[in-house]
Amino acid sequence: MKIAVLAGDGIGPEVTREAVRVLEALGLAGLELVEGDVGGMAYKKHGHPLPAATLDLARASDGILFGAVGDPDCDNLERHLRPEQAILGLRKELGLFANLRPARVFAGLEDFSALRPEVAGAIDLLIVRELNGDVYFGEKGIRTLPDGRRQGWDMMSYAEDEVRRIAHVAFRAAQGRNGKLCSVDKANVLETFQLWRDVVTEVAAEYPDVELSHMYVDNAAMQLVRNPGQFDVVVTGNMFGDILSDQASMCVGSIGLLASASLSEGKLGLYEPIHGSAPDIAGKGLANPMATVLSAAMLLRHSLGMEDQAARIEAAVARALADGVRGADLGGSHGTALIGDAIVERL
Ligand code: IPM
Ligand code: MG
Repeated sequence: MKIAVLAGDGIGPEVTREAVRVLEALGLAGLELVEGDVGGMAYKKHGHPLPAATLDLARASDGILFGAVGDPDCDNLERHLRPEQAILGLRKELGLFANLRPARVFAGLEDFSALRPEVAGAIDLLIVRELNGDVYFGEKGIRTLPDGRRQGWDMMSYAEDEVRRIAHVAFRAAQGRNGKLCSVDKANVLETFQLWRDVVTEVAAEYPDVELSHMYVDNAAMQLVRNPGQFDVVVTGNMFGDILSDQASMCVGSIGLLASASLSEGKLGLYEPIHGSAPDIAGKGLANPMATVLSAAMLLRHSLGMEDQAARIEAAVARALADGVRGADLGGSHGTALIGDAIVERL
């Protein structure tokens, strides 16, 4: 079993190091970890944020553990050379179309939420975000109109098969949870999302055991802070999912705790914390590695079929939190390595 470790920029290497230590502490036989360059650091070394060697490594692996990309030094590069293109390229090239972003409040952390503790305590939801389509991957450009004004444009579209396959992932996820699926769209204004709604409704016929509802994205943003406990699984497009998942992270309390999986039709998946490269605290040993550690657990579960080992890691993280282990993101004084130690001890 080969895991590609793409640590990337900013705090990526620090948090990934702790996740690798946790994986190694499991003592699994036949697990090979191979490092690759990605993001701004790869641009500086090789002239491209997603070098061919990294893409080959990712393709040849069973799972990808990803840190973060983003580097202020690269802000003025042409768009196709920016660090963010590495993660977008991996998602597209590897067909990682289904992004799972679970959000729930760990017991005892209700007070860290931006919401009232009793509202926050009810959060246990899964955002299923489509990752390969939408306005992210449409044709785009900045052009000059005949009258001389510049115009930026980005084409939004979804083909029905793209909607259908993410809908199936979401319905199956709901079957494995509380049987409720809310599809978030903007069908009242956008044709793209009228088709989205029609296709999700068609797919629902195959899942009579799942209760499907539809919600406009603006209302969903409001409901997510008003009464997040109403959601079980939420399925939505690439752009709305990007926004709603950041919002959900603050409802939970810290973005330093949220893991994610990006899955393909097969076993290959990419696993990364939801947070970014946080250049302001990079290299200081302050970042909370828990989100990356929990992403490694998702890797074991979804790509390697090791549910027991995944649950062991999740239990160790929950235990560390229950014992008062707190990173700076949670008002505590535990640094990156100390949090890694605390998790490894509890394993
Ligand atoms: C995310 C990030 C990315 C996205 C960026 C870094 C391209 O915000 O994974 O949510 O917009 O998808
Ligand atoms: Mg985002």
